[in-house]
Amino acid sequence: MNQIFEKKILCIGAGYVGGPTMAVIAHRCPGHKVTVVDVNPDRIRQWSSDSLPIYEPGLKEIVMEARGRNLFFSTDIEAGIRESDIIFVSVNTPTKTYGAGAGMAPDLQYWEKTARQIRENSDSSKIIVEKSTLPVKTAEAMERILTSNRNGVHFDVLSNPEFLAEGTAIRDLENPDRVLIGSRETPSGLRARDELCRIYANWVPKEKIISSSIWSSELSKLVSNAFLAQRISSINSISALCEKTNANVSEVARAVGMDSRLGNKFLNASIGFGGSCFKKDVLHLVYLCTYYGLETVGRYWEGVIEINEYQKERFVLNMLNSMFNTLTDKKICLFGFAFKADTGDTRESAAIYIAERLAEERARLVITDPEALENAKDDLKGLEDISYIVDPYEAADGCDAVAVMTEWDVYRRLDYKKIYDRMKKPAFIFDGRNILDYGRLFEIGFNVFSIGRPALTHFELSPSRH
Ligand code: UDX
Ligand code: ADP
Repeated sequence: MNQIFEKKILCIGAGYVGGPTMAVIAHRCPGHKVTVVDVNPDRIRQWSSDSLPIYEPGLKEIVMEARGRNLFFSTDIEAGIRESDIIFVSVNTPTKTYGAGAGMAPDLQYWEKTARQIRENSDSSKIIVEKSTLPVKTAEAMERILTSNRNGVHFDVLSNPEFLAEGTAIRDLENPDRVLIGSRETPSGLRARDELCRIYANWVPKEKIISSSIWSSELSKLVSNAFLAQRISSINSISALCEKTNANVSEVARAVGMDSRLGNKFLNASIGFGGSCFKKDVLHLVYLCTYYGLETVGRYWEGVIEINEYQKERFVLNMLNSMFNTLTDKKICLFGFAFKADTGDTRESAAIYIAERLAEERARLVITDPEALENAKDDLKGLEDISYIVDPYEAADGCDAVAVMTEWDVYRRLDYKKIYDRMKKPAFIFDGRNILDYGRLFEIGFNVFSIGRPALTHFELSPSRH
């Protein structure tokens, strides 16, 4: 039986953004048909199976509820385009690795292919919604591609950036701080904006759905991520000063965060931010500033990335320094590899850099993580002598040091006496996330190092901490 749906929504790109976003739209709008397509058949097979391609709390439940009713996954991109009224584009836009703008500008090859594919397979008018993080002015380029050699088919391009964070994607989508829709001010642009607004209004309060010009919307996404990344680099830069002066960065963050003008979120000092967005988006911003001749502004934002790199290297040098200036043949266990807790995603995870540097120092690595081991294996496939073990007790067995890379809850609750007993002595713990109980660990016998706090050691420490 062919069910009648109000609107047919297509999403191109079944990744961390497209998958969860469409699952929530399907869940909240049972009258609309939502189809998610991808060039990668494995991904689509996984989305259609019991083991979804990404781990995200709450995702499986809503996918299971909507799949087959009004949520569909397919590799037939062309058929999807033909039948759809609204197309969300959430293909990946990694940083370019070649040619002009390499290392900074986004690589738009996937995105441009998609624009052309939409044009070639459309025989009715459609609304195109940019979801991927894209540089400012992409919608304009998208319009140009779509409107060249058209045959009476009209496209309205909207920008609707995604602000969800991994690990809390479903909560963020269900209850967003805001939904931003950028459109053209033309009558048809405004009609398209209102249509998308109506979809979100099924569950998002009207006052949280805001609109702007397309360019402002595109830029808002970059600026939001740049401000968030800047906050982490700010507190991380202060953590270095705290270590030199025996201050405690958590105490400083608490005092600073109680100023209601600043707020207390995103002030956790760490080994550095990771994830697919922050570095890429700050680099986009730097690229844009430089492109428009604003070198001073570009350098200001570049500092955010520089501190992030510095923080990762500082962590490694502190390990080296504290473990008597040699890591050769020492066995080091990394607790966590994901770029943050509650996700299996390791893209740009600080743990990748730290693992590579430790291997360069000839340490032997053991990696444990509840969700990210497969990705970790892939990230470190060039390196030898690395073990991957799910059980943290087993992973720490016979190690000289444990280093916490990811703030998984499970690491707070482990029996550290049991871990200590199984480790080589002197035993070291380096907490890159400031989540452990240092007094207790010190009492057990560990030498304890955290970010931006005084170290607790059973021996005199040489003064050159980095
Ligand atoms: C981010 C933005 O938060 C989100 O709005 C946007 O849509 C995509 O990029 P995400 O990268 O998924 O989301 O995770 P986020 O929670 O922002 O964390 C990014 C990195 O910063 C992680 O590595 C995290 O561990 C780190 N972080 C975060 C800190 O080191 N300290 C903090 O206080 C907060
Ligand atoms: P994000 O975190 O932005 O969602 P992902 O890499 O997780 O990024 O997802 C992007 C998805 O887009 C991938 O599954 C990739 O296979 C898919 N993709 C890339 N190019 C195309 C394309 N031209 N058509 C369809 N899907 C594409």
